Amino acid sequence: MTQTDIKDLTLDAARSELADLANKLSNANSKYHGDDAPNLDDATYDALKRRNTAIEDRFPQLKRKDSPSDQIGTSAQDGFGKITHAQRMMSLGNAFTEEDVTDFVQGIRKFLGLAPETPLAFTAEPKIDGLSLSLRYENGKLIHAATRGDGTTGEDVLANALTIGDVPHKLQNAPDLLEVRGEVYMSHEHFEALNTRQTERGGKTFANPRNAAAGSLRQLDAEITKSRPLRFFAYAWGVLSEPLADTQSASIERLSALGFQTNSLTKRFENAIELVEHYKSIEQQRADLGYDIDGVVYKVDDLAYQTRLGFRATTPRWAIAHKFPAELAWTHLEAIDIQVGRTGALSPVARLTPVTVGGVVVSNATLHNEDYIRGRDNTGDDIREGRDIRIGDWVQIYRAGDVIPKIKDVDLSKRPKDSVAFDFPKTCPECQSAASREEGDAVRRCSGGLICPAQAVERLKHFVSRGAVDIEGLGAKQVEMFYHDPMLSIREPSDIFTLKRRDAAQLTKLKNRDGWGSKSAEKLFDAIDERRNISFARVLYALGLRHVGSQSASLIARHYGSWSKFIDAMENAKGMEGAQWDELMSIDGVGTVMATSLVTSFKQESERASIQRLTDELNIEDAQAPDQTSPAAGKIVVFTGTLEKMSRAEAKARAETLGAKVSGSVSAKTDILVAGPGAGSKAKKAADLGIKTLDEDEWLELIAGL
Ligand code: IVH
Repeated sequence: MTQTDIKDLTLDAARSELADLANKLSNANSKYHGDDAPNLDDATYDALKRRNTAIEDRFPQLKRKDSPSDQIGTSAQDGFGKITHAQRMMSLGNAFTEEDVTDFVQGIRKFLGLAPETPLAFTAEPKIDGLSLSLRYENGKLIHAATRGDGTTGEDVLANALTIGDVPHKLQNAPDLLEVRGEVYMSHEHFEALNTRQTERGGKTFANPRNAAAGSLRQLDAEITKSRPLRFFAYAWGVLSEPLADTQSASIERLSALGFQTNSLTKRFENAIELVEHYKSIEQQRADLGYDIDGVVYKVDDLAYQTRLGFRATTPRWAIAHKFPAELAWTHLEAIDIQVGRTGALSPVARLTPVTVGGVVVSNATLHNEDYIRGRDNTGDDIREGRDIRIGDWVQIYRAGDVIPKIKDVDLSKRPKDSVAFDFPKTCPECQSAASREEGDAVRRCSGGLICPAQAVERLKHFVSRGAVDIEGLGAKQVEMFYHDPMLSIREPSDIFTLKRRDAAQLTKLKNRDGWGSKSAEKLFDAIDERRNISFARVLYALGLRHVGSQSASLIARHYGSWSKFIDAMENAKGMEGAQWDELMSIDGVGTVMATSLVTSFKQESERASIQRLTDELNIEDAQAPDQTSPAAGKIVVFTGTLEKMSRAEAKARAETLGAKVSGSVSAKTDILVAGPGAGSKAKKAADLGIKTLDEDEWLELIAGL
């Protein structure tokens, strides 16, 4: 069903819809906060919330006493302490085809420079579909248990982990310091039993075992966790005071000997063909395992090789997850909603008749953009042989792992006779400003900027998100509620920091809301104050400017060092020419698109004023200069000729780890040329320019021990 346009709503229809929304949202709130078992996904919840506010804005006289806009809940995470992982918890790259697996193996051989006859062994094991947990043992005693969180910081769930039978409390003959990592999961049997129990009690049932495991581990009351039988497989480790063994397979055996459950399908193989055979065999056993798995993980067996291979930004080079194929299902497309994002992008979302796809109930799917709906890709070529997607269509849903479900196809033989092509809105559904599409951009954007409530809210959500300012107790749901709350009125990031000061009675106002006691309100103000000291990179990323992600923000911060220097540079670069513009463009990783986005944002009077109001509230720490202790730090290094001790890829990765920038060509800016046998024109050019030239051994000596 399509929703009535707000402007066409009658008073009666608006009143009854507000009642219905109040009911649905209050229901969703109690499910979310009460049982860690949401009955609505975030997108649906957000859409209902926005609809409620839009109706209230149009008919303020109809605002209910129990209006959902006035309700503030506590975040489910509030009760957990945070733990910074001593070693980051990484995720895994994915392989989907046999060719991807061969490429993975070949890539590793090449990186390590192995001759074809040199053996290279791997382990292959099921990828458990649960949630990862890191267990820290000191002198054999379990002292921390932390969820993955954002990889750097997780939640302290020690009390809950202690209730899991597979988690040893004490270890004998273990290294003094040992972090064991693995997956918490729930068996099919226990998942079914839990859902039956929940139904009998009128509680919320879980969509799949992974959600059930996550909901059960993240209970503030460990007694509840205890009543829900969770299991744990160990498959990796973090920091250690001494190595467990020389190989992955022997380390896993050692973990097993220490008392951990390890997966019996973990095996060691010598080549890609054997890995894929094992994958197929595991896939055949999948339905009978009694727990969910979503692929097979391959890991280089030799730990010395693992160390040499190291990590990319978030994934190891020495491991990969070979995923099982995506799941498909057919259902009805009931409506197409348009969501407005942080940068004004209008994103179409398919509302579906709920359907189970690979064990998960799906009721929303992304439709990407207007061209995708029309059956075109971004170069204008046909997709789905040009078949468009219409409301009322019978559509095929595609779901691969954690990826947002997509609509893959449409069955024209089932299309209703009276269906019409979808008319993509040309105005923003949230603020009615014009929504235009720039040339070459697949996305239509609202031109309303900060006057658009959806953009303003999305920006605030981004501002408080994990990689950004990350204020404890102030998550996406809370800022959205605060935004719509006329008393608190948080409209832009600076308002968060002036909240307490703006009005002495704020604390009382906050305190009297649902879910907020005076303690939690005070805690929130403390958490806000704690974030006033903040790094340059975080502030820049938190602003949510288009094309400026967290890595770019770090690069820019490191380049300018101080916020004031950066602001001056933006001011002087606004003509998009001259020395300051050239300097911005010279930063490695900053291209025209990002530079333009940066200067355009700072050029806009309202935007700059809003940023100024924010930075007036903050104490922005200077960015740290690169590690000067490394002789390679900040240096531009070029490799040429044949390297004999390591492959080009390994040499490059190692130099970058030490803070160097590796370039492909020699110029006056080059600091060091590493030349192996057969070096030609580059060596000559370096000699002409008087650039320091080292052979491979000299280079290795320079960086030895780092
Ligand atoms: S190894 C540095 N092995 O998959 C590599 N991960 O998509 C550490 N997972 O965050 C991970 N089964 O939660 C590894 N046998 C297995 C796994 C596994 C499940 C999860 C883990 C990880 C995610 C990455």
